[in-house]
Amino acid sequence: MPPSPAASAAPPRLEVRDLVRRFGGREVVGGVSLSVEAGQVTCLLGPSGCGKSTTLRMIAGVDTPDAGTIRADGAPVFDETVQVPPESRGIGLMFQDFALFPHLDVAGNVAFGLKGPRADRDRIVEAQLAKVGMSRFARKYPHELSGGEQQRVALARALAPRPRIMLMDEPFSGLDERLRDDIRDETLAVLQAEGTAVVLVTHEPAEAMRMADEIALMRGGRIVQQGAPYNIYNAPVDREAAAFFSDVNVIRGQVRGALTETAFGQFLTPGLPDGTEVEIVIRPQHLKIDFDRAGRGPLPTAAEGTPARGVVTRARFMGSESLVEFRMDFDGSVLKAQVPSVFLPRPGTPLWLMMRRDRCFVFPVRGGADQPAAR
Ligand SMILES: Nc1ncnc2c1ncn2[C@@H]1O[C@H](COP(=O)(O)OP(=O)(O)OP(=O)(O)O)[C@@H](O)[C@H]1O
Ligand SMILES: [Mg+2]
Repeated sequence: MPPSPAASAAPPRLEVRDLVRRFGGREVVGGVSLSVEAGQVTCLLGPSGCGKSTTLRMIAGVDTPDAGTIRADGAPVFDETVQVPPESRGIGLMFQDFALFPHLDVAGNVAFGLKGPRADRDRIVEAQLAKVGMSRFARKYPHELSGGEQQRVALARALAPRPRIMLMDEPFSGLDERLRDDIRDETLAVLQAEGTAVVLVTHEPAEAMRMADEIALMRGGRIVQQGAPYNIYNAPVDREAAAFFSDVNVIRGQVRGALTETAFGQFLTPGLPDGTEVEIVIRPQHLKIDFDRAGRGPLPTAAEGTPARGVVTRARFMGSESLVEFRMDFDGSVLKAQVPSVFLPRPGTPLWLMMRRDRCFVFPVRGGADQPAAR
């Protein structure tokens, strides 16, 4: 490989611009742009059917975009005039149905895509198997391996040609949770050590947050938000983006003089005209609960607003936390709070709820003003 120019001047390892794909007149991918640096993991995250796999297939070259460009290390692999075939793109693939070749042993599977002298290939196979902890299985056949072991071999096979870009489509979904965590972490370590740019498709937010340097949240063929997991989780662009990562509570209100009055006190809603319907969204783990003191609750605070009373309708023990559902006195609505599992209140218990102001998101209701409000 030629020496790369200074990191700041180097083009991204993978750069996708305005990728479009239509099937039978329906736009399934509607202008997706992504930029992934060497050693970085970007997760395409979104509900079933939003266009994740289609995007990945176009990058891999097994499907042809209707428009857009794809560059690897600055050189086009797809645009109006260039279409590099999949096998020449330097892109590794690991898909959910990763099927190993049943008639080849583990070493044979890993060696499959390699070129060059035998001794070199053997050395690469050995090194890759060691990386995924599968050296002692080299002479076994796929049917003699567990699902997780097969997946590790598939990973070694995908990495053996040292692809500069790796595309992974729900590669861990067939594994049970414990095994999946281990294999995910191992995989990530191997890819980062190799400086590979990774695009990983998943519909599981927990997986995306665990693996990604950057999440591209997709909906209806478009990326609706893109950023570090922390930012996407803590500053969602809209209610759906918030709700994709956890259960949410939604309180409705109407703007009056840049404020919205609710049972939990006033919320600042600057920049929205009077009469705008807003939704105040908060995750269950950011509701605080307090005891009922003969019909009274704690005093209002700037950080938590006014407490509102509700009666426990259901409480479930979830291990490290409890999920408690309340029917609220003010309007009979149901709110959910996630609290440490030392609390498991009985149904019928009255309690007071507070909303941490710094954890609330305020969005105008669709069809109204369409710019997001500040908190
Ligand atoms: N070859 C095709 N012909 C027609 N429609 C297609 C084709 N491939 C995909 N689609 C449609 O495009 C949409 C997006 O499909 P895609 O496989 O990209 O979704 P996805 O985000 O990967 O979903 P999942 O999480 O379920 O895998 C779907 O509605 C799908 O039915
Ligand atoms: Mg898919």
